[in-house]
This record gives sequence, C-alpha cells and structure tokens, in this order.
Amino acid sequence: MKSLYERSLAVLPPVAKRATKLGIIQGQGAYLTDEKGEKYLDFAAGVGVANCGHNHPTVVAAVEKQLHSLVHGGHNVVYYPSYIELAEKLVRRVGADYKVYFSNSGAEANEGAVKLALSVTKRSGIITFNSSFHGRTLLTAAMTASNAQYRKNYEGVLPPVYHVDFPDIYNTNLSEKEEIARCLNQLQQVFHNVLAPTQTACIVIEPVQGEGGYLPAPKEFLTKLREICDRFGILLIFDEVQSGYGRTGELFAKDHYGIQPDILTSAKGIANGIPLSAVIGKSEYMDQWEPGAHGGTFGGNPLACAAGIAVLDIMNNDFLQHVSKIGTYFTARLRELQEKYPIISSVRGLGLMVAVELRDKSKEPATELVSQIRKEALERHLILLNCGVFHNVIRFIPPLIIEKSDVDKAITILDASLDASLRKVGEN
Ligand SMILES: Cc1ncc(COP(=O)(O)O)c(C=O)c1O
Repeated sequence: MKSLYERSLAVLPPVAKRATKLGIIQGQGAYLTDEKGEKYLDFAAGVGVANCGHNHPTVVAAVEKQLHSLVHGGHNVVYYPSYIELAEKLVRRVGADYKVYFSNSGAEANEGAVKLALSVTKRSGIITFNSSFHGRTLLTAAMTASNAQYRKNYEGVLPPVYHVDFPDIYNTNLSEKEEIARCLNQLQQVFHNVLAPTQTACIVIEPVQGEGGYLPAPKEFLTKLREICDRFGILLIFDEVQSGYGRTGELFAKDHYGIQPDILTSAKGIANGIPLSAVIGKSEYMDQWEPGAHGGTFGGNPLACAAGIAVLDIMNNDFLQHVSKIGTYFTARLRELQEKYPIISSVRGLGLMVAVELRDKSKEPATELVSQIRKEALERHLILLNCGVFHNVIRFIPPLIIEKSDVDKAITILDASLDASLRKVGEN
C-alpha cells in the first residue's frame, strides 16, 4: 500500500515545503502516531499550534458541543455567542482598552493589523525587520525578510516595506547596548533617507523573532521603539503569531517586557489547531476602523471560537507557570549539551520558545549539520524544526503540556543525534 507521502506526489504541488514525509493518523498530548503505528515525540506542534497538546479533551469537547448548535453564522451577517464570549475573555486577559477582530490565519491577522494602521493614521509607510517572518500573502511576504525564496518572482507586485536590522546579540562583536544602537541608527537612516517618520503608519515587530532564529528582542530595544512610535504618532504592532498563547510562559511575550503595543496579532495556538487568528488593537484605533474597511467569510468561525474559549480556560496561571518551569529546566539541559558540544554557539529563548544555534570553529553557520541532526532525531522518533536565516538553528516548539520526562527523552535523542551527525558530517 502506498504511503500518504507517495499518494501526495500525484495530486499535490511541491509548493508547501514539508519538514518530514510522515503521514500522521493521530495526535495525543505531545505525541503523534503515523500510518505505520509508530509514535513520535512532537517538538514542532504543527509549528507552535497544538500548545495545549494534541486533542486536548476540553478543546475537543467544546468543538463537539458547538458542532451541534452552529457551524457557521458569518461574522459579516450575524452575532453568535462563541464569538462574543471569546472576545470578552480575550479582552479581559489583554486589557480593557483593547478590542478584537477575528480572522483565520497569522498572515490575515497581520494584513488586518497593517490595514488598521494605514486606515487610522492615513499614512502609507510600513517598517518591519530583517530576518522577520509575517506570512505569505503579498503584503505579508513584502513585510517578511527572512528568505529571498518567499519573495522570488513576486517582487514586482509586493507593496513597499522598509526593513531595519533586528538586534542579534548572539552573533555580534558588539555589546548589547552597541547592537541596539546600531539597529536604532538604521531606523533613523530610514527615517532620514527614505521614509519620513510622519509618513510612517506602523512599525511591525515580533517581540521574539521566530523564523529569524528564536531571538528575543532586548527590552531596551522595544522600549526605544515604543518611545519613537509615541513621538511620531506611529502605531507599534507586535506580531505574536508564534510567540503568543503561552509559548513564552506568559499569555503573550509582551508581558515579559511590560510594553503595550498599539496592535497585537495572534494566531497559531489561539484555538489549538482550529484555524483562527485575531487582531487585538487599542480601542481608540479599533473604534476608528470604518465598517466595511475589513471583513471576511470565515473569520471567527463558531467552532474555532468555541475552541478558543476552551484554550483560554486551560491557559490559567498554573498552566503558564508550568511552561516557565519546564522551559527553565529544558534550557538548563540544553546548556549541559552545549558544554559537551561546543558547536552549539548559543542556547536562547523564553519559556518553551527555545533554540540552539550551531556554528563551527570559524563561527560559520553549521547548516548541513543541523539538517543531519534533524534527520537523526526523526529516525529516533523526535520531530524537530530549524529556523534562522542560515537554517543553522534548531527550534524547540513542543506542546506546552510536556513534562520533565518528555524533556529528558528529547535531550537523550538530541544528544545521540548530535553525536551521530558530528561523526557523519564532521565539524570544521
Ligand atoms: C511570527 C509569525 N507571523 C506570521 C505567521 C504567518 O502565520 P500563518 O501561517 O498562519 O499565516 C507566522 C507563521 O509561521 C509567524 O511565525
């Protein structure tokens, strides 16, 4: 019998690049079961989506219940309880001075957030950061600067977006202060040379850069951005599509910094796998967004909202504390590995949004080695993803319900995979 992968070749285009050839039949907690009945420890969680664990019983029950009352109402047509209740719960958690607009994907939320900023500021300038990832629609591909492949052949129709370096304190000879100053200086150059701050509608940043390499933004950098935005009437947008929903040990990464964005975007873990995203904006701006200026058929679907309510109920203080505790333990275990394998040039992250970067003796990115480690880990039934513009960073995005024993298992497999890969690929 042909595998799912083999069957896919006849009917699917290669465009959606997959990290594995696994055909998955079932998910439970931190584990996935493939079509041969093999179980895998899932440290990808569908790229940071199954934050409550695969098939969390409370989420499943909430969706099942909703299925019997209303599957689709259309938020451009009617109001329904799950939509309103989720908005109320989310606003309660984010702050009473925010309002929420629901859509389907991270890219769609980012498009919505930028449209809101353009709409209320009546300005057209958009600034994002090098190595960022914001999505794959034309606007969000234009905002993205982590891989030329995402923009190839589309360049002519991408709207103008200006990019500034995101501080990378792990790969610089500068001090943290100097690295922040370098990036802020680039922003000043953009303001001076190409886009006046008074023409800038928004600055969009991932507080923890995801695809770009799991780089937490230094607090001083975000503080300075907040000040600049306030001075010039620019809206500060946090893309928390990957860093949100408990991933860093807070509901949103912004809570580590104590900095309030004007607009926050959320997706991925918001409904634990049912497509849903949100633009969460300060009421003073949301209230100016004119009726009809944005919309969509499926946004805030009742099933997704029911799942979203269950997710917020699950993500209470104890849950978030668990993420911080396990994240600290995991990071400590990764640092032990770093002592054993000096090719691990840094261990970094927040909560369970953690990564290791691999660089050889000349500080060159160990891209091939990372690829081999992921293969070796998969053979040992651990699913890992990479990130970083050179694909030399292994990111760990497990379901947030993992226990110490899952971390220990992952570390044992990672250790064996590093050892085997170094033998095969070697180290320069
Ligand atoms: C930070 C960030 N923003 C936006 C997106 C796009 O989200 P989606 O794939 O749901 O459109 C992603 C997806 O990985 C992301 O990590």
